[in-house]
Amino acid sequence: MGSPRWKRLCLLFLIGLTFSIIFYGHYYATDSAPSPRTESRLLQEETLELTQAEIFRDVRKNNLPMKIIRKWGNATQEPSKRGDYNPLKEKSSLCPQSLKTKVKTDPTLGKQFDFNIPTLIWKQLFTLETWNRLKERSVPYGWRGLPYEVIASAVQLLNDSVTSRLVGKIGSPGGCVRCAVVGNGGILNGSHQGKEIDAHDFVFRLNGAITKGFENDVGTKTSFYGFTVNTMKNSLVAYAEYGFTQTPQAKDIQYIFIPSDIRDYLMLKSAILGVPVPEGYDKSDNPQKYFGPEAFAGKFKLLHPEFVHYLKERFLKSEIINTEFGNLYMPSTGALMLLTALHTCDQVSAYGFITDNYKMFSDHYYEREKKPLVFYANHDMLLEADLWKRLHQGGIMKLYQR
Ligand SMILES: *[C@@H]1O[C@H](CO)[C@@H](O)[C@H](O)[C@H]1NC(C)=O
Ligand SMILES: *[C@@H]1O[C@H](CO)[C@@H](O)[C@H](O)[C@H]1NC(C)=O
Ligand SMILES: *[C@@H]1O[C@H](CO)[C@@H](O)[C@H](O)[C@H]1NC(C)=O
Repeated sequence: MGSPRWKRLCLLFLIGLTFSIIFYGHYYATDSAPSPRTESRLLQEETLELTQAEIFRDVRKNNLPMKIIRKWGNATQEPSKRGDYNPLKEKSSLCPQSLKTKVKTDPTLGKQFDFNIPTLIWKQLFTLETWNRLKERSVPYGWRGLPYEVIASAVQLLNDSVTSRLVGKIGSPGGCVRCAVVGNGGILNGSHQGKEIDAHDFVFRLNGAITKGFENDVGTKTSFYGFTVNTMKNSLVAYAEYGFTQTPQAKDIQYIFIPSDIRDYLMLKSAILGVPVPEGYDKSDNPQKYFGPEAFAGKFKLLHPEFVHYLKERFLKSEIINTEFGNLYMPSTGALMLLTALHTCDQVSAYGFITDNYKMFSDHYYEREKKPLVFYANHDMLLEADLWKRLHQGGIMKLYQR
């Protein structure tokens, strides 16, 4: 009676209840049964193939410049004949040690990765077809129940060709784009990885990414900061006591919005327009507070909901999906950033991500006293740990471990 275990259970139940109430609003209108566990793998893959073919149709219809299309493969080919199309034969990859080459030679990963699927969505990919397809899928990675006007007006502001790409051509030796993705794990405390992290062409950070005071361990460079509006604002509250009082801001930082909710589209639109959020949960919030005074479309990227859905289905299809928390399940922000980098860069190093010996480290690198890693009901950290280990062992990326 009154044991800590009992209290913890009560707390978990309350948290669960709160989440259910919050999410009830999103789901009650158009509830659909989660796909049954018995559904064959083949069927799932077919669904994904179809979706991808549809994206290509969008691209073709809009006469996107060939330069952009070529990045994704041969869009002039009929989708049904694309089965054996191999994007790795593209001349555009100048990097001889690209992870794409390694993925290709791995029988399992070769089927998992699809480098043709666009990682970002912007104006030209927002078509009626896209809308009709995504409005059938519930949030976080669909648009069911969300107003067309809000989604359309946000995505259509991303009309600059710069917003269609995450990384541009850069001049590393051998033409390789080298990226570091920095999670916030306690493993980085005392790691002295700062210099190595900063030596990458691009550095991805996310959520409570504190660098001040931790430069030696986590570096200073930030090229991309990834978040959902919810995780960004929660981080500003939860980690303020450790010094996370402001999101990373600088002229050349780009912001990667993970679409999960109407809030992300409203904030994105307001940020580009430089106006307070007009409605909803973040009403009157000033985006400049988070993204600085210099806002223009090129500074903001929006992950394609289809891409995030593909990541979830192919890489992190957790058992949680089949539980009562199924509707809450999302890969962690860190996982989404790391997988985005793996679909974007030639070489990827992951720092501060969960490892087998996570119990040796604090939850975050900036905590002053060791705190155990928090396992939220809506994430599957052990599944993520397994994926990172597999990718590391397969030579696809380098996972920092100690
Ligand atoms: C693209 O596909 C078309 C039709 O199948 C083919 O004729 C063309 O050679 C392909 N182009 C490239 C660059 O593979
Ligand atoms: C993008 O749209 C805005 C607003 O409609 C317009 O002012 C701007 O010129 C457009 N930019 C490009 C590159 O088309
Ligand atoms: C971080 O590392 C220092 C030095 O190794 C150690 O004293 C401290 O307890 C660590 N902090 C946490 C939260 O584990």
